[in-house]
Amino acid sequence: MYILIMRFTLLGRVGRYVSYLLWLAKGQPVPAPNLYKEQLIKLLAVKYGLKTFVETGTYYGDTTHSVARFFDKLYTIELDDHLYDKAKRRFAKFE
Ligand SMILES: C[S@@+](CC[C@H](N)C(=O)[O-])C[C@H]1O[C@@H](n2cnc3c(N)ncnc32)[C@H](O)[C@@H]1O
Repeated sequence: MYILIMRFTLLGRVGRYVSYLLWLAKGQPVPAPNLYKEQLIKLLAVKYGLKTFVETGTYYGDTTHSVARFFDKLYTIELDDHLYDKAKRRFAKFE
């Protein structure tokens, strides 16, 4: 339920910004929050004209989905069978 709320609601979007601000306030410890990582990937894609994105560890595919329009080709690799099946369904129309 928590994951559904975080992914698909306004509360989830606000939560991402709150996580980012808390991370800044804590002095930017590792790991960085997803919002920051996604923005950095997009910035690097534009700055260096990157065309291909490779991700090891799809999880729910949120990073892939977030950065997709910045790349021509995306490869995301998932070890866990259940998460792999979910990602296959989520991105089926892009295969
Ligand atoms: C922290 S999550 C990845 C989060 C995702 N990259 C994102 O930005 O939303 C780690 C994921 O990596 C997967 N994983 C762990 N070891 C792996 C491996 N050797 N190859 C591929 N996926 C792996 C796990 O099953 C898990 O889904």
